[in-house]
Amino acid sequence: MDRIIIKGGKTLKGEVEISAAKNSVLPIIAASILSGDKCVIDNAPMLEDVFVISDILRSVSADIDIDTSNRKIIIDTKSVCDVEPCSELVKKQRASFLIMGPMISRFGRIRVSLPGGCNIGTRPIDLHLKGLNALGAEINIGHGYVEAIAKKLIGKKIYLDFPSVGATENIMMAAVLAEGETTIENAAEEPEIEDLADFLNKMGAKVIGAGTDTIKIVGVKELKGITHRPIYDRIEAGTFMVAAAITKSLIKIKGANEQHLRPVIAKLIEMGVKIDIKGETLIIDGTNNLNATDIKTMPYPGFPTDMQSQMMSLLCTVEGTSLIAETIFENRYMHVSEMKRMGANIKVDGRSAIVQGVNKLTGCEVKATDLRAGAALVLCGLAAEGITSVTDVYHIDRGYVDIEKKLKCLGADIFRQEN
Ligand code: UD1
Repeated sequence: MDRIIIKGGKTLKGEVEISAAKNSVLPIIAASILSGDKCVIDNAPMLEDVFVISDILRSVSADIDIDTSNRKIIIDTKSVCDVEPCSELVKKQRASFLIMGPMISRFGRIRVSLPGGCNIGTRPIDLHLKGLNALGAEINIGHGYVEAIAKKLIGKKIYLDFPSVGATENIMMAAVLAEGETTIENAAEEPEIEDLADFLNKMGAKVIGAGTDTIKIVGVKELKGITHRPIYDRIEAGTFMVAAAITKSLIKIKGANEQHLRPVIAKLIEMGVKIDIKGETLIIDGTNNLNATDIKTMPYPGFPTDMQSQMMSLLCTVEGTSLIAETIFENRYMHVSEMKRMGANIKVDGRSAIVQGVNKLTGCEVKATDLRAGAALVLCGLAAEGITSVTDVYHIDRGYVDIEKKLKCLGADIFRQEN
């Protein structure tokens, strides 16, 4: 298994380009099933998760061409048929469950293995299933599989107990071809939901209100193939913002939407980071001494859970006491024990973590336990004294395009050791 090796203590400089959002591209690839036509994704991020969901679509007979050098994905779903997606692939990734909405919408039936994904909590799928059931699907669960069958999907008013991103996306995708009108109340408001709605609307769907807590979907008869360029990855941008702050550097981040990053920008400014916004470029000046702060993860537009571990890396290096409350996932502190091995002073009590800043982190071998935890350990390594070796890098590769190459271009002493 590959590892990333970092010699800490280098100041970063220069600029980095942000890739398209993984969490936009995965549902968009799934949604292309709805068109039964050819869809093209421009500037697609060449990531392991993208390859896996593409293989899942291939396993139901989609024809997918991934042009890695031009970052283009051409998906032809004309030949997609009502077969079971490969369970080995589905188990690799939680987002694979997103093919459920489009498949039931197009074929009236889907049998799919229960999904996998990062080890950050129990991550049930009850809200997805309740939503599909409300639209008329009969759901059966057993032997590690979910089966949904519907002669016809009919629009309904659906209230989500929690604004789940995946459930909102799955219900939206099931509802676009349903008969009549669907309303999702207490819907997730994440920018990636808006991006999916843009994709669906370009195909001919009628989705209104995505990005707010109430989404209305008026069913249409059919959708057509289109070309789409997804939004930038706000979590990748946030990770590089922290990279600047933790190394006390000044860098330029190209390809960032200030609106999508509001909670991260606000928190970093509160800590003393200077951020200059010039259109889609952010200039991050982390050369000041920073203050400790408190963070509570919340559904968008609150502070993103996907930035919690990276912010913890930074707070470990900032004088004073910070309090982190993780309200979205119940098991998202697996990076803590690895950070402690590097000298961090963190105490976890249930969903809260108290971080006491230390004078220095020290490099050692640490293990990436999930995607964002892995990125957080790379960030710790940038600031640590000596050599940090991050193992199980495959987690990081699921969601960051060439993280070590991008950091190296910024001046970090970092490389990948392939095994
Ligand atoms: C998506 C993102 C992930 C991010 C998360 C929260 C993708 C591919 N992944 O994941 O990076 O961390 O949003 O911003 O977009 N829940 C239920 N029942 C359900 C569904 C969810 O109880 O049916 C719970 C989950 O266990 C979790 C919370 O709701 O505690 C949030 O999950 P959700 O918003 O669904 O996250 P994902 O769509 O899995």
